[in-house]
Amino acid sequence: MKKILILGHTGYIGPVVINHLKNKYYICGVDTNWFKARINKKNYREKYVSNKNIIKDIRNFKLNELNFIPDAIIYLAAISNDPMGHEFKKVTKEINSNCCVKIAKEAKKLGVKKFIFASSCSIYGAAGNTKKKESDKIQPLTDYAKSKVISEKKLEKLSSKNFKIISLRFATAAGYSPKLRLDLVFNDFVVNCITKKEILILSNGEPWRPLIHVKDMALSIEWAIEYTTKKNFLAINIGSDKWTFRIRDLASKIAKSLGKAKVKLNKNNQPDKRSYTVDFSLFKKIAKNFQPRENVKDAAKVLAKNILESNYDFKNFRNSTKFIRLKTLKNLQEKKLINKQLFWIK
Ligand SMILES: NC(=O)c1ccc[n+]([C@@H]2O[C@H](COP(=O)([O-])OP(=O)(O)OC[C@H]3O[C@@H](n4cnc5c(N)ncnc54)[C@H](O)[C@@H]3O)[C@@H](O)[C@H]2O)c1
Repeated sequence: MKKILILGHTGYIGPVVINHLKNKYYICGVDTNWFKARINKKNYREKYVSNKNIIKDIRNFKLNELNFIPDAIIYLAAISNDPMGHEFKKVTKEINSNCCVKIAKEAKKLGVKKFIFASSCSIYGAAGNTKKKESDKIQPLTDYAKSKVISEKKLEKLSSKNFKIISLRFATAAGYSPKLRLDLVFNDFVVNCITKKEILILSNGEPWRPLIHVKDMALSIEWAIEYTTKKNFLAINIGSDKWTFRIRDLASKIAKSLGKAKVKLNKNNQPDKRSYTVDFSLFKKIAKNFQPRENVKDAAKVLAKNILESNYDFKNFRNSTKFIRLKTLKNLQEKKLINKQLFWIK
């Protein structure tokens, strides 16, 4: 059985990846565990917890602390969205770029064969109406997107015949995870439908956004673990045309799936600069059996069901210190539980 190391395994995506890979691989995870809230505690241990679970900041972690050499490393750990990247600029570079490269260097020395990096389609920036291909110019607009570009560039240099690196440029994540996030457009719309019977779109609704369900992200990670290629470094867009929407159309689809919610547009709002469409044809071509399988209607219903069954009150969810990542970190700082560099204070 292959041994997989996941760095950042207790965030939004990590538990869903663990659930997907668990029966096929031995999984060890390392995470500092900033985000403890679980929307749903049912079956958590059986479904979403790795074989070995290390709670530690990876800025202070060395691979030789493990008693095995992983067959593949999946680097999910990050300051993982634009608002957090803006608030914690220095730490974003430290974790998303410097620490990633430090661990990749160690991995190469130890003889790890594969390193999988969670990158983002947001590195294409304001891309206009042409679908962005992997070979197109990248224009990262935010500190978060810039940190992903720096890592990709350095990882490409490190990659070699015996140390293959795949950078998965993910579309925006969506859907149910027990570690729910409500700072994501799809999930935000679902909660709005349930709590307010109305989706108020913050932009003018025009921007294009490619999305991907978390379960389909996990599927693509399985693909990346198994994929063999002559290329030392591969950067690949992960998503699908089926899940690429204008924001207003996404809102209508979700509202329709969940019943009688209204969709309200704010026509006076400035267009959102982060409008882009992405070309997923390479992924379609080389990962035929790992293409996104989820559909919007079911994804909205599953998420809605879990929200309705949970004990949390979602009325004021945009200020939630449990499910909005930036609020969680700021709350931990205010309570003096983590410091400026986001290390736990003992
Ligand atoms: N969610 C999305 O829409 C999306 C889209 C594209 C790419 N990605 C990327 O996928 C990855 C996972 O995303 P997510 O949504 O699960 O993010 P998340 O913020 O929910 O989880 C990240 C996890 O990394 C951990 N972490 C951060 N810094 C750490 C450190 N120094 N030491 C140990 N653990 C640390 C956190 O505790 C957290 O559990 C990220 O790299 C993100 O940039 C996410």
